[in-house]
Amino acid sequence: MICPKNWASKHVQEITTDRIVIVGAGMGALYAALSLAPHPVVMISPETLGQGASSAWAQGGVAAAMDAEDSPENHAHDTLNAGAGTVNADVAQMVTQEARQHILALTKMGTPFDRTETGGYVLSREAAHSFARVVRVKGDQAGAEIMAALIEQVHQTPSIQVLEGTMAVALDTQDGAVCGIAIQESDDSRSAPIMLRGAAYLLAGGGSGGLYAVTTNPPRIRGQVIGMAARAGAVIADAEFVQFHPTAMDVGEDPAPLATEALRGEGAVLINAQGQRFMKAIHPDAELAPRDVVARAIYAQSQAGNRPMLDTRAALGEDIKTQFPSVAEYCARNGIDPALEPIPVAAAAHYHMGGIETGTDGRASLGNLWVCGEASSTGLHGANRLASNGLLEALVYARICAEGIATHIATIPAQTAEITLEFSGIGTPPQPENITTLRQCMTDNVGVVRTAERLITALKIIADLETRDPSPSFQNMCATATMITLCALLREESRGAHARADFPDSLPGDGKRSSMTYAEALARRDAILKDTA
Ligand code: SIN
Repeated sequence: MICPKNWASKHVQEITTDRIVIVGAGMGALYAALSLAPHPVVMISPETLGQGASSAWAQGGVAAAMDAEDSPENHAHDTLNAGAGTVNADVAQMVTQEARQHILALTKMGTPFDRTETGGYVLSREAAHSFARVVRVKGDQAGAEIMAALIEQVHQTPSIQVLEGTMAVALDTQDGAVCGIAIQESDDSRSAPIMLRGAAYLLAGGGSGGLYAVTTNPPRIRGQVIGMAARAGAVIADAEFVQFHPTAMDVGEDPAPLATEALRGEGAVLINAQGQRFMKAIHPDAELAPRDVVARAIYAQSQAGNRPMLDTRAALGEDIKTQFPSVAEYCARNGIDPALEPIPVAAAAHYHMGGIETGTDGRASLGNLWVCGEASSTGLHGANRLASNGLLEALVYARICAEGIATHIATIPAQTAEITLEFSGIGTPPQPENITTLRQCMTDNVGVVRTAERLITALKIIADLETRDPSPSFQNMCATATMITLCALLREESRGAHARADFPDSLPGDGKRSSMTYAEALARRDAILKDTA
């Protein structure tokens, strides 16, 4: 067995199964598992199904051209515009064309989408969309409700086994193809790993927002899956493009609760402590400007001590409590009455456009490996994801990956045994203080506005942390943090969500996507650190 650096191979218990191994339990993972049935699947779910996945926290919904006046072409056009020159146009066209069929499939599976009196879908408006096209559930509960419908289906599907309380920490490869996934108990990875050898491997374990101290992502989403693939040799694309959400609630909670962009679609405005509506002077679309533009404006207000706030009073008044129940609940638990007072907000790491590079068939650069959802980088989002295209991409690519895996495997075994895990031994859990230092380092140095000086500082801090904490899970976090920081340093321009104070303009022409292995990244990093020592 070939083991990633720092990962002890001694005494590893092995389990071989004819199940397809799916890492993750968010929307992409669940939808893929269902699409694969009756192929036997095992899902590696860090928490109880439905808990801890970013998609369950998504408020806005799924972008899809469901209105007769709208079209997939309009949707693709908006996706390209928001992405600041680096969106793959073929991918945008394909994903937006397929959107409708997935909304219909989710409806059939029992998702209670909000409907109009005439039976159409209620559609929300979000930033940088030229049309109201975000399909929603109970106002701001799309993620949780779609997940609940999928989980119900999963529970009724005998081909799917869910291993709750487990997490993946390493990929084993042979001749450039994945041949196993090491899993541990997710409770601080205190157990020794078990090597699971399956029929094929799908990574659907989320993005990297939690690598930042200020984030809207659930606590476990810290770039581990991207880092795990990077350390096994998979090519990583667009790592520097991290999206910051402009209206995370600034109430001292970690993670920061989200105040959905759909509130601004309903007319909520951004003001500062002086009561100024500052977005009007920054962009003709004001509060509905592309997300990166609004995030930078919020960040600038925060940095200037102007305390930015989202004012829903005139647009929604008391209706916020029934139309946006999640936001209302977050406000209530923080003593804010949004009908009477504005909500303090801050820019927070929200979505990673970068990730494991995947082709239009959902395959990574390593053999026998497919990726969907935020862990992937398909080229759909470019430098700035269009709002509510994240869940859409997860659904479209989950189906593509499932079809690809089913073709690859071809035969369905007549009988498949359930996997029984007996964790034992002692693992190497990450030290909480190292995670805290890493997250603060990313927020301080690799955040909304970047400079070479700060990025080099971050590379040094991450390199030092990496040597201090051998926990595989922490090593995976450091690998992703290094890729984000290095690619941000190498991109000497500002584009979409990647803003460099020392290179404020975009380079002429469409941006080139970045694409690199972790080995290449480490060689570049070491050369830079030597030069700047
Ligand atoms: C939101 O509801 O504002 C978030 C939607 C998204 O990130 O796509």
